[in-house]
Amino acid sequence: MTGLPNVWARKKVAPEKPTLLLRGSRVYLRPGREEDWRAWAELRAASRDHLTPFEPQWAEDSLTERAFRLRLERQQRDWRLGISRSLLIFLEEDDSVIGGINLNNICRGAAQYCSLGYWLGQPYQGHGYMQESARLLIAHAFGPMELHRINAATLPHNGRSIKMLRRLGFIEEGFAKNYIQINGAYQDHILFGLCADSADHALDVEA
Ligand SMILES: CC(C)(COP(=O)(O)OP(=O)(O)OC[C@H]1O[C@@H](n2cnc3c(N)ncnc32)[C@H](O)[C@@H]1OP(=O)(O)O)[C@@H](O)C(=O)NCCC(=O)NCCS
Repeated sequence: MTGLPNVWARKKVAPEKPTLLLRGSRVYLRPGREEDWRAWAELRAASRDHLTPFEPQWAEDSLTERAFRLRLERQQRDWRLGISRSLLIFLEEDDSVIGGINLNNICRGAAQYCSLGYWLGQPYQGHGYMQESARLLIAHAFGPMELHRINAATLPHNGRSIKMLRRLGFIEEGFAKNYIQINGAYQDHILFGLCADSADHALDVEA
């Protein structure tokens, strides 16, 4: 066997990367790309004290380029599997990355629900950017994705997050003891939910 191509060899095909663009008036959302690393890491480093009380504990290397690449690979795999959609948020005016928003734990079958996760860099808080971003993603979840319900959970003292969920029409539905590991410890959470049939109204209401 010399010089002949092995016709049985499997061609290595790079898996497709997810593409989605959701455009609002002041922000747009799209999946992260490798070239976003520096701006993303600088924003998160500058917002460390603002974010860490409300997020799962950061690994020591969490802001490195390698960790960002691995994060993207995980997000791309989960997107292809249909179990999550992770997007970065950018300002229309200058394309700066200002935060992130995700639909996690997407569950199909009889459930058709998912959980909403979100964060904004500290300088971008207090401008209504997350409300606009969440409205875009909720419309996508209940529209093309045909989900039926979005769950959200926040720490009882996360006033800004609670206010935002209420403004979007989320209903407080319960309380979960030691629900998720946040900043290194399992912590109680308030549970919220938004169903597709009540969202039409909620999304029409101005912020
Ligand atoms: C939760 C979080 C995203 C909320 O951010 P936020 O900027 O307060 O959220 P919104 O987009 O709803 O903005 C609302 C604020 O913008 C103000 N605002 C200014 N211009 C506005 C506009 N054009 N439209 C709407 N709101 C506007 C509102 O008055 C409101 O401020 P107020 O609460 O002081 O009245 C942010 O605090 C955060 O990232 N926290 C750390 C991470 C975190 O908690 N993640 C969630 C875990 S459950």
